[in-house]
Amino acid sequence: MASLTIRKLDDAIRDELRLRAARNGRSVEDEVRTILREASQPGGLPARHPDVLTDAAPRSRPEAATGQLRVTLIIGGGIAAYKALDLIRRLKERGSHVRVVLTRAATQFVTPLAASALANERCFTDLFDPQSEFDAGHIRLARECDLIVVAPATADLMAKMAGGHADDLATAILLAANRPILLAPAMNPLMWNNAATRRNVAQLKHDGVMMIGPNAGEMAEANEAGTGRMAEPTEIAIAAMALLRPPQPQTLAGKRVLITAGPTHEPIDPVRYIANRSSGKQGFAIAAAAAAAGAEVILVSGPVELKDPPGVVVKRVESARDMLAAVEAALPVDIAIFAAAVADWRVVSEGAQKLKKTGAALPPLVLTENPDILATISKRAGNRPPLVIGFAAETEHLIDNARAKIVRKGCDWIVANDVSPATGIMGGDSNTVHLLTRHGNEIAVDSWPPMGKDGVASALIKRVAEHFEKANS
Ligand code: CTP
Repeated sequence: MASLTIRKLDDAIRDELRLRAARNGRSVEDEVRTILREASQPGGLPARHPDVLTDAAPRSRPEAATGQLRVTLIIGGGIAAYKALDLIRRLKERGSHVRVVLTRAATQFVTPLAASALANERCFTDLFDPQSEFDAGHIRLARECDLIVVAPATADLMAKMAGGHADDLATAILLAANRPILLAPAMNPLMWNNAATRRNVAQLKHDGVMMIGPNAGEMAEANEAGTGRMAEPTEIAIAAMALLRPPQPQTLAGKRVLITAGPTHEPIDPVRYIANRSSGKQGFAIAAAAAAAGAEVILVSGPVELKDPPGVVVKRVESARDMLAAVEAALPVDIAIFAAAVADWRVVSEGAQKLKKTGAALPPLVLTENPDILATISKRAGNRPPLVIGFAAETEHLIDNARAKIVRKGCDWIVANDVSPATGIMGGDSNTVHLLTRHGNEIAVDSWPPMGKDGVASALIKRVAEHFEKANS
């Protein structure tokens, strides 16, 4: 093969080659070899390689054209840096493209290799990296994204930001940024409460920088606790997505929505109870979606391990009877959605003391039926919500049982799902549902494709909003 002298090429072609080589992290010679190899493949090269840019116009990544959201994630040098690796995954699973920048100190805690592997592309560490900086890479990292997230944001990094320093790649990006910035501070509680950090935090907030956390809890240092733990990766990812998404149309503004969620616990004695496997995820997702659509939301939840969704009033209850009382106290509402897996039975007489093994016969557990909250509210004479939606959790004859349930309970719609163990719906993150809607004596069935519980929640709230829009037109 004849040798190729790069210097003898036209200036424009040489510049393009250098640019493309730098973007791909290769030498110019390797880049030429790659181009020749690609050209020898069936179909050859496109007329102009899309990655080769020739003008000074701002460059947007291909993802921008596909609508994928882009995050530049700056990982600071603190022990919480290891959690930032999980944050890469949490952002990616929510559909964003993530470019990672590590400060020099961050590389003491996590390796560029690990960050690159999780991000599926090379990460950036050096302001004076000839491969990325010869065409002002820090400006591109600052601008070719929709949001910059700094996690962990150390006291030092925040001090530099507040003072406008730009002596490394991370601070140069932050100073050059014209995109929103979200910080997830993480430091020792004494550092967080130090007057200098307080001043820097106030300055950064005044400059429009947003923050999530820090949370209170135990520190990496032995026997230390207080405010300074970095927010959990999922919390940061949710906050980031909320900033990235365009504001949602307020289709339920002015509407009051009541939602039940989770299991109920029916006490047997002070330490034992009857329960079920409901996680509450679907009901919480519906509450979050209704609040995001502008509704006033009251969520009555049985015992679950979930945080209050933003903008939702949450009443935590234990038993079916507590749940019914909380639901009745919340009336009147425009829409009531009963997603709770209410225990059907409770013991007739709850033991005042722990039941003891006596060696004799087993203690009899005499059961009685709990009130049916959905049926009680659906059949109310006064204050019946104009739209009452139930759920039908079935393990067989899904649609037939759901049809019978809508009639028996007197509700307007039913969201039916198959909760057989094989579906993984109970406790899982996705759901496959059928929406049954009653129109006089007719019941229409609409089968939705499998989706995340968030997706089911958004689709249901959309249908609710359309229902009211139609009723008002
Ligand atoms: N529900 C309720 N109060 C109860 C039982 C159920 O409000 N005591 C509501 C649920 O929140 C759900 C609907 O009724 O919206 C159907 O619940 P499901 O568990 O599917 O049915 P059950 O009423 O328990 O009937 P079955 O056991 O025959 O399936």
